[in-house]
Parts: sequence; C-alpha cells; structure tokens
Amino acid sequence: MQRYAHYIDGREAAPHSQNWFESHNPYTGEPWAEIARGDATDADLAVQAAHRAFTRGAWSESSATQRGELLRRVGDLIARDAQRLARIEVRDNGKLLAEMAGQLAYIPQWFYYFGGLADKVDGSVIPLDKKGYFNFTRHEPLGVVAAITPWNSPLLLTAWKIAPALAAGCTVVIKPSEFTSASTLEFVRLFAEAGFPPGVVNVVTGFGHEVGAALVEHPLVRKISFTGSDNTGRAINEAAARHFKRVSLELGGKSPNIVFADANLDDAVNGAVAGIFAATGQTCIAGSRLLLQDSIYDESVERLLDLARTARMGDPMSMDTQVGPVTTRPQYDKVLRYIDTAQNEGARLLLGGHAGTRPECGSGWFVEPTIFGDVDNAMRIAQEEVFGPVLSIIRFRDEDDALRIANDVRFGLGSGVWTADIARAFRVSAQLQAGTVWVNAYRAVSFMSPFGGYKDSGLGRENGAQAIHAYLQTKSVWINTGAPSASPFVMR
Ligand code: NAI
Ligand code: MG
Repeated sequence: MQRYAHYIDGREAAPHSQNWFESHNPYTGEPWAEIARGDATDADLAVQAAHRAFTRGAWSESSATQRGELLRRVGDLIARDAQRLARIEVRDNGKLLAEMAGQLAYIPQWFYYFGGLADKVDGSVIPLDKKGYFNFTRHEPLGVVAAITPWNSPLLLTAWKIAPALAAGCTVVIKPSEFTSASTLEFVRLFAEAGFPPGVVNVVTGFGHEVGAALVEHPLVRKISFTGSDNTGRAINEAAARHFKRVSLELGGKSPNIVFADANLDDAVNGAVAGIFAATGQTCIAGSRLLLQDSIYDESVERLLDLARTARMGDPMSMDTQVGPVTTRPQYDKVLRYIDTAQNEGARLLLGGHAGTRPECGSGWFVEPTIFGDVDNAMRIAQEEVFGPVLSIIRFRDEDDALRIANDVRFGLGSGVWTADIARAFRVSAQLQAGTVWVNAYRAVSFMSPFGGYKDSGLGRENGAQAIHAYLQTKSVWINTGAPSASPFVMR
C-alpha cells in the first residue's frame, strides 16, 4: 500500500502522532493508500513554515512579475503531468477518467490567468479633498491562507484557491479532504519543481475536526478559503469570526434547472442529464431540481427517461463509462437514505432507486441514476442537498410560478433556464437568486468568470480577476507634502 506523508516546508513530513489512516478506491471499496493523520502540532508546523516563507526569504522579496513566472511554470508542469494526476484522482475519488483528463488539461489555465494577473494589481492615487497630502493605496497580501477542500473535485478546487492566493503574494497550507488526499500530495511536488521556495505551498492531511479545525484556529492563519458542506462552512465561519479572519465559503446548492415550453427540448433534456448525472451528481452545482412547464411535462419526462436509461455505469478508468461510483462510503449510505426518504414523502420513483449491482459495478459504491416525478418543492428531497445522482422533477404553470419555486430554497448556487424567448431569458436570469445562471446551457465554468453563492450557498466569489482581491487587503498611505500643523485635538 502506498503511503502519503504531509508536505511541509518543501519536504515530506511524517505525522507527529505517528498515526495513519486508509484511503479507499470507490470502485473496489478497498483501501489503496495510507495517509498521514494530522493534528494540531502538524498544523502548527505547516503554518509556521508558511509564515516564515511569507515574512522572509525569496518569496517575500519576489516581485509580482516573478511570482507570475512561477505560476505559469507550474501551469506547464500540471499540463505535462495531467494524465498521471488524472489517474490518481480516478483511483482515489472514482471520478471518470474521461472527465478528469479534461479537468486536468484545463487546470493550468488558472495558473496562467492568475500568473498573468499577478503584476497587474494597481493601487490608486486618490485626488484628495485636502491640500498638502499625497494619498495612495497599496494592495497587500493577507498572509498565510488555509485552503480547505472537499472530495468531489480536489485539484480543480485547490487551483481555484491557490492560483489567486499565490498571485496575490500569500503563502498557503492546503487541507484536502480525508477521502481524497493523494492527488493533492502529488500535485504539490510540482511547485518545488517549478521553483517555488519551500514553505510557500504546504499540505497537511487528516480529519476536519482535528487538523482542519486546528488550521482554522491558528493565530497566524489570516484567511480561510473553504469549499464543502454548509454545516462545516458555518462552523468555520463562526470560528473565523472570533479571530476576525477573512473567509471565502463555497457551499452546496439545490439548483433549479427550469425548462419552459418554448425551449428546444432535446437540448434541455441533455442539459438536465448533464446537470444531475455527470460526476454521479456529486457537484455543488448539480441541477438537482428539474422544473418542467405543465404543457411539456409528460413529453420531457419521457425523453429524459429514455436518455437517462442509456447511462453506462462501470469502471471509472474506462473511457466509455458515463456514471462512476459514489466517492465515499458515508456518501453512498446518505444517497440511499435520501432515496428512501423521497419515497416515504410520496415522490414518484420513475427511474433507478437502488444501489448499482450490475456486474460492471463490481464491488464499488454505485447508486443507479435515480429520477423522482411529481415532487413537491416542500419535500426534503427538493430542499436538501443530496449530492448524488438523484433528480427531483417539479411541475410549474407559468414564469412567476417557476421563479417562486426556483427561489424557494435556502441555497442559491447554480441555476439553468431553457427557453427560446430572449426577453424571458433576461427577465428570469435577473430574478433568480443564484450566483450563476446558465441560459440554454448547464455546468459550464471558467477561470475568468466569477463563481459563488447567494444565500446559504456561501460567501465571496472565486474565479475572474476580482478573485485576487479575496487574498489582498488595502492600505491607504498619506504623505504630508506641506500640510500646515494644526490643532492636535481635532481631526484634520
Ligand atoms: P465537509 O464539508 O465536512 O468537508 C470538507 C472539508 O472540510 C474536508 O477537507 C474536511 O476535512 C474539512 N472539515 C470538516 N470539518 C472541519 C472543521 N470543523 N474545521 C475545518 N475543516 C473541516 O464535507 P464531507 O464531510 O466530506 O461531506 C459531507 C457532505 O457535504 C456531503 O454529504 C455533501 O452533501 C456535502 N458536500 C458538498 C460539497 C460542495 O462542494 N458543495 C463538497 C463535498 C461535500
Ligand atoms: Mg479515496
């Protein structure tokens, strides 16, 4: 079995406790690697290394242009190793090789984009209302950033955080999910190869309540960038508030995918399947509520079932598999529990509804693509994030009804609108309470376009040029160029 230690200050580091835990391959259900079980001592070592790198040495003295060069170089190395990293992720996570190969080929773009942006963050000269001063702003890096990531897309979500953080001049400690730590530990080595000084990028592994919580509480961590469940996001936000730390939170969703009667139904049905069955439904932006207008309800359901029935479950390493296993055993149990709940609530099971037991599923944690019809938006299956291949179909009358249902959840991450009416596309996209609206599309993201949540789906935005400011703070500098001395007892 392969062993993965922490990565601290440019070196592998065994866990202080000497404890390790197993990571499983979801396709076989078997353990394949041992991962360091970190604790507060390991977190402290990593944060101290990151703090040293931030405050002295080559990184702290580098220009923004030099940081940009390093980021572009690491982008090239990720592109070079894309296939190798993709295979590790498939083994540890169960994501399809077909999807991972595409993701790994795209991840370098985050490093190219934010590398290019590093030396384009200008301060401003303020045309002050007071005579005798020159006033300007500087955007300075926050310091040590803790990047806490989930298991569903470990490397992509790590890139979303660390590319802008490093471009800003911060240093980072990454805490990957305990279910999928291996790819991050392979990935981090590329930073040393690219020429990043030791301590700029560190990884500690282990459980959230142990090493994760220790990072959040550490006094030298100035910013926590988190993606994961809303419950953990709330706990992190509360802990961060006690120390006035910055937080970015990318939490879950219960995203509506709305199909109007005037839509191209083939495209809409295709988008609905992509929205919920891609990545086995384990995406924060999963289009888990499909809203169908009355007049096309029956026909759309029929086409949807026809397409969903063709989804091929199987070995995620095989290029023609379309639905892989669920990534973790607890998640597999949770998805099956939600299927029971939905049936008890009176949702009508139209497809699937069981664990995947076909021979091609082996001993993996598979759940059949599952579709419920006649779902009432008040049901738990329509209100809570399942994070699996389970779709709820809800009927609506008209535009107002669709918007009312779409917005009647506590989340607001993604949303889809399918219509041929351009005016409706503008109207509805303005009214949806969600950080992203896709019109006649679903599940597209880019390093250039802001991504994040309304309501309980999170705080802050990742991606796009503004994302670098999540890792910067602004200083206003006043230089006296001849302002007269005045009474010391009144504000000037
Ligand atoms: P989680 O939100 O608990 O874990 C995400 C990361 O946070 C992991 O690295 C974990 O170790 C860390 N963490 C947990 N507790 C922490 C704490 N107190 N302080 C600091 N770090 C902490 O998610 P988990 O347990 O892996 O999955 C639970 C549910 O979350 C899933 O069933 C799914 O519904 C949802 N989920 C949502 C995701 C999204 O992108 N919206 C991603 C993954 C899971
Ligand atoms: Mg695993």
